[in-house]
Amino acid sequence: MRIRPARAEDAALLLELRNDPDTRRSSVHTGVVTEQEHRAWLQQSLTRTDRMLLIAEQDGAPIGTVRFDLEEPETWELSITLAPDRRGHGRAGPVLQAAQDYLTEQRRVRSIRARVRTGNTASLALFARAGYRRYRAEDGFVLLELAC
Ligand SMILES: CC(C)(COP(=O)(O)OP(=O)(O)OC[C@H]1O[C@@H](n2cnc3c(N)ncnc32)[C@H](O)[C@@H]1OP(=O)(O)O)[C@@H](O)C(=O)NCCC(=O)NCCS
Repeated sequence: MRIRPARAEDAALLLELRNDPDTRRSSVHTGVVTEQEHRAWLQQSLTRTDRMLLIAEQDGAPIGTVRFDLEEPETWELSITLAPDRRGHGRAGPVLQAAQDYLTEQRRVRSIRARVRTGNTASLALFARAGYRRYRAEDGFVLLELAC
């Protein structure tokens, strides 16, 4: 398993992951994203210094994505998505760990936060096992934080 930065050629993969029904249900914005909206978003995301968009690969094939957004100095909010056919096999923990390692090697990081829907059992289990602590609940989401 390896982590690499996303590229423009990952557009189709990232859009597919974003529009997957389970991903949308777990997202803050649940609507379908159009190809045009996605292209503009990706182009901007690849140049922003306050965002890190990563692809997780296993045996050379993409299996998911992790996005980090700078929320406040040295504090990043993350979002993780595995490809639907890769879910439920214990791969999320290693992907999360590798992405965190990638971020902390590249940037100064004091803490990493995640915003998870209260009913997203797999995600809550993933973050609990990875050492994230709940610090707030709001509007159907639990806010979690890992001190680095
Ligand atoms: C959240 C996500 C990354 C987790 O990946 P996954 O492959 O499903 O999870 P894993 O198989 O690695 O398991 C992670 C934990 O969730 C548990 N789990 C997995 N599927 C579950 C399910 N359907 N119900 C309950 N628990 C579940 C596992 O037992 C494991 O817990 P453990 O380590 O205590 O045993 C993946 O489901 C996904 O991409 N979902 C859509 C996007 C999303 O919800 N992202 C999170 C928002 S930040």
